[in-house]
Amino acid sequence: VAFKIGLLGLGTVGTGTAQIISNPSGRHPLLQEIEIHRVGVRSLDKPRNVQLPLEAITTDLEAIVSDPEVDIVVELIGGLEPARSLILKAIANGKHVVTANKAVIARYGDEIYTAANEAGVYVLLEAAVGGGIPVIKPLKQSLGANRISSIIGIVNGTTNYILTQMTAVGADFEDVLADAQKLGYAEADPTADVDGLDAADKLAILASLGFGGRVKREDVYCEGIRQVSAADINYADKLGFIIKLLAIAQGAKGYESDRLQLRVHPTLIPKAHPLASINGVYNAILVEGEPLGQVMFFGPGAGSGPTASAVVSDITNIVGILKSSGKTQSLDPLLTCTHQHYCSIVPIEELETRFYARFLCGDIPGVIGHLGTCFGQHQVSLESVVQIGFQDKLAEIVVVTHDVSEGNFRQALDEIRTLEAVKTIPSILRVL
Ligand SMILES: NC(=O)c1ccc[n+]([C@@H]2O[C@H](COP(=O)([O-])OP(=O)(O)OC[C@H]3O[C@@H](n4cnc5c(N)ncnc54)[C@H](OP(=O)(O)O)[C@@H]3O)[C@@H](O)[C@H]2O)c1
Repeated sequence: VAFKIGLLGLGTVGTGTAQIISNPSGRHPLLQEIEIHRVGVRSLDKPRNVQLPLEAITTDLEAIVSDPEVDIVVELIGGLEPARSLILKAIANGKHVVTANKAVIARYGDEIYTAANEAGVYVLLEAAVGGGIPVIKPLKQSLGANRISSIIGIVNGTTNYILTQMTAVGADFEDVLADAQKLGYAEADPTADVDGLDAADKLAILASLGFGGRVKREDVYCEGIRQVSAADINYADKLGFIIKLLAIAQGAKGYESDRLQLRVHPTLIPKAHPLASINGVYNAILVEGEPLGQVMFFGPGAGSGPTASAVVSDITNIVGILKSSGKTQSLDPLLTCTHQHYCSIVPIEELETRFYARFLCGDIPGVIGHLGTCFGQHQVSLESVVQIGFQDKLAEIVVVTHDVSEGNFRQALDEIRTLEAVKTIPSILRVL
């Protein structure tokens, strides 16, 4: 065996990774040249679902990243610390790194890739976005000839499962979340998923790869799905839409090409759109570029085996390079991060998009006219206005706009809130 892995973490993904490496038959022959040398965990007495020599397992993760025998450190512990420090120490010790940790890369990618480039090592992260779906390498390599205009993804399986269930059974968010937690599709603390934070981490990574510049995580505008109601899903359905949590990176029209829109929010998408049929815990990423047009990557966005599939593909990628060129060669520019500048991000107020809004109004004559007037005064033109029915004696009115500026739309809403007839605005959603 020629190449030694230092595995940090033996949880869901770590176990899947160890299972693949310890059972190489029928897989790529390079796997037979890889050995798990040491494994770092938090507690030594946990039962494990993979056979490893007892002496290989340790709680001393620092010792793994500085072990002279280790060629590649595979970070699968998750979270920001100690993951960040361990990755940086591994790099400082000349180890190549494979990670599935989108949180750390989205926040500290700049620091990590600068260190990696200086040290002449690779940091690969196929598993960090879309779990088992190959999307990082395609963006870095296979699509490199294209000018990318947009990347739109369903990149969080938990929220996609919840929205799919809400759509299928007409249930509200809290009920479906509780069921998802019982079934293990949502974590006890669902914040990172349902508030869109995990999707925003992944979008920062995808955008950086697709648009060729660094992206600050805090520049990603982010709304989660807690506010999506069964009522809105139902009305959206009647209007021909499905509601999905989308992560959207778009080159801003009319601006110099490195101005980007980056946003994560629940979105009404037309039923005929390719992303409308991505259901349950599945993920999909739709990339559009010139001259290719659209290409969509679809598959299991999480889970032990699928995510480990991506992790091991990165390991074999590095092993292949080490075998063919040895350690002294310079880094392959198609596999490193060579970005020097930060993309500039368009503020959300400047976004041009369609909106869906639902109003509860006193049944005062002419209320639809008043709404139309307010919108008109702020250059918001309406595609449709439908009075859906009555709820608690209030008229329920749904509006879908044409493409409008978010800033104008918000100003119109501020004015509409002051109208006597308008009692509440229970939901405001963007439309793809
Ligand atoms: N699960 C998925 O489907 C999935 C999909 C894509 C990406 N990822 C990413 O993959 C990474 C791992 O996720 P996971 O689901 O496999 O996590 P997990 O099941 O919670 O496993 C984490 C592992 O890391 C160890 N660990 C955590 N903190 C540690 C510390 N401070 N010191 C030593 N060991 C520590 C744990 O040790 P013990 O076993 O002793 O507790 C455990 O073995 C995360 O970055 C996650 O975002 C996961």
